[in-house]
Amino acid sequence: MPDLEKQSHRQVCRATETQYTQHSNMGDQKMRRELIKGLNEHFSGMKELIQKSLEARKFAYCPYSKFRVGAALLTHDGTVFTGCNVENACFNLGICAERTAISKAVSEGYRDFKAIAIASDMGEHFVSPCGGCRQFMREFGANWGVYLSKPDGSYVEMTVEELLPASFGPEDLKMKKVNIRNEF
Ligand code: THU
Repeated sequence: MPDLEKQSHRQVCRATETQYTQHSNMGDQKMRRELIKGLNEHFSGMKELIQKSLEARKFAYCPYSKFRVGAALLTHDGTVFTGCNVENACFNLGICAERTAISKAVSEGYRDFKAIAIASDMGEHFVSPCGGCRQFMREFGANWGVYLSKPDGSYVEMTVEELLPASFGPEDLKMKKVNIRNEF
């Protein structure tokens, strides 16, 4: 990468971090306190969940992007499901770490989530979930914790709602529908 490009890349990273920090300072403090209380019932803080996401990252199958991602999902009863990204020679079939973890949990009967921690190898900034994963998380509620981490274990705490404001969710499909025959 040419020097100028490198510099502007770093600036973007710094700006993104500041944005995240600002975001994580905003929001409903009561909801945030409840989130943390729920997490502490099962964990000695978030560090443990982040550690699990860092470990899950080691299983990433990413021969194409070489971008390892790990996730650790904490359920209502304290069970943790981990996930990593799994790529494919047919590129568009790859799956992200977050979706792997959520699918593992749902396929074992869990739908009530307290938090998800996400880890990558990027030392300069916190890994952020892609748009598809944000929507995938949203399916199971807007008010739960998403922890964006760095390899040194530092993290930014956000909620699904903060990552995907004004979202579309399952409740929207319960609204009154027009009675049309879906034919041409
Ligand atoms: N990736 C994830 O696993 N989670 C994200 O939220 C962002 C991207 C993966 C997908 C792909 O295997 C690699 O990172 C590069 O995009």
